[in-house]
Amino acid sequence: MTPSPDVLGRPLRLAAIGDLHVGQDDVAPYRDVFEEISESADVLALCGDLTNFGRPDEARVLAEDLRACRIPIIGVLGNHDYECGHCEEITRLLHEAGMKVLNGEAFEIGGVGFAGAKGFVGGFGRNMLGAFGEDAIKAFVQASVEENLKLETSLRMLRNERIVVVLHYSPIAETLTGEPPEIFPFLGCSRMAETIDRFDGVKAVLHGHAHRGLPVGRTPRGAPVYNVARPVQLSHSGRPYAMIEI
Ligand SMILES: [Fe+2]
Ligand SMILES: [Fe+2]
Repeated sequence: MTPSPDVLGRPLRLAAIGDLHVGQDDVAPYRDVFEEISESADVLALCGDLTNFGRPDEARVLAEDLRACRIPIIGVLGNHDYECGHCEEITRLLHEAGMKVLNGEAFEIGGVGFAGAKGFVGGFGRNMLGAFGEDAIKAFVQASVEENLKLETSLRMLRNERIVVVLHYSPIAETLTGEPPEIFPFLGCSRMAETIDRFDGVKAVLHGHAHRGLPVGRTPRGAPVYNVARPVQLSHSGRPYAMIEI
């Protein structure tokens, strides 16, 4: 099932989609999309908010559709997948359906390394929230630091010349353009971009969460960043996922 680099002999074709927001009453919402992707891509990446409210019954609906996917699947959870406090069960259900859920781990497919974590909020550049003042603020910033450490740990595990980073929250502000500027600090954090830019070989950074953002941007060092939130992809390409050559 996993293609080796010798077999490929060409760039890896990566399909990516975030913010699927599967509901428990949906009927095979992504089966046709996953079958189509299986024909045209080597790997499918899912960038969080896989369910609407983080209910196991929603994950079961998605898991059934994932079984229609005939290529390797990797991905991360999003904030919606945490809503009901069942993220471990959701991870198990998706894992059993063939998805490799990254939460600070790394994975290799066809010679390409995949690093991933959900990420967190916190703002960008000089306006990033710092750990100062009340305990509540410090705990909030600590959550952001800890998610970033997971990302760093996963990147450190890889020695590949081609690396893909999978996130839910955005590491840059550029791909949020179109969202209200007031909520940018709740859509991602540049702490993650600083970490990504310390590593060589990052060919693509994927994120979702910003349903009204832009499809493409770059980290300060130049790594391409793709907002693969389903509504963004639909409005820019007419199909619900991005296709990227790595
Ligand atoms: Fe979402
Ligand atoms: Fe989200």
